Amino acid sequence: MPELMNEPKEKVIVGDEIFVPLLTEEQIQKRVAELGEEITKDYEGSVPVFIGVLNGSFLFMSDLIKCVEIDCEIDFFKLSSYGDAKLSSGKVKMLKELNCDVNGRDIIIVEDIVDSGLSIKYIEELFEENNPKSIKVVSLLVKPESLKYKIKIDYIGFNIASQFVIGYGLDYAQKYRNLRSIYVLRKETE
Ligand code: IMP
Ligand code: MG
Repeated sequence: MPELMNEPKEKVIVGDEIFVPLLTEEQIQKRVAELGEEITKDYEGSVPVFIGVLNGSFLFMSDLIKCVEIDCEIDFFKLSSYGDAKLSSGKVKMLKELNCDVNGRDIIIVEDIVDSGLSIKYIEELFEENNPKSIKVVSLLVKPESLKYKIKIDYIGFNIASQFVIGYGLDYAQKYRNLRSIYVLRKETE
């Protein structure tokens, strides 16, 4: 591994909050490869468009498509629902639109994490207006106990507890996306 790459950490300190390891780089890469294999099998004969939700999904998207062995295309768009806080504002805003035409295409929405499910619900409703052939969702992480909307997530990397996480694309006030593992906010009682 190149010497400049950041190392796994025992903890990440953010002000007076401490994040501890949840998923290692190895665990993440193994699961991403499995998801890529599954998607490869399911989309044989099709050229799906992977649509990443910025900014959080960029690392997952890049690793995932390297594990997909059929032809595919990619695009990104950007939503904002969190601002710089740890709790969802409950509102979704479109900050960067999609560039590709999804009409008649098999699209796979790529999310870093599904929390309440509001973003996915909004995205699916938006895309349905453009008549794609199919819409599926892949999310690296899902917090099942936080789900408030009825949505279907077709491919799940890991189900996790309803705690705030950072790393591997996921931010806290825009930082820590560059960490290679995923860290979780340590509970007060730990
Ligand atoms: P939802 O709309 O409530 O499902 O929230 C989804 C979005 O909120 C994700 O795409 C993330 O960008 C962000 N998010 C939710 N939980 C976390 C977290 O634990 N850490 C960092 N970002 C999060
Ligand atoms: Mg996101």
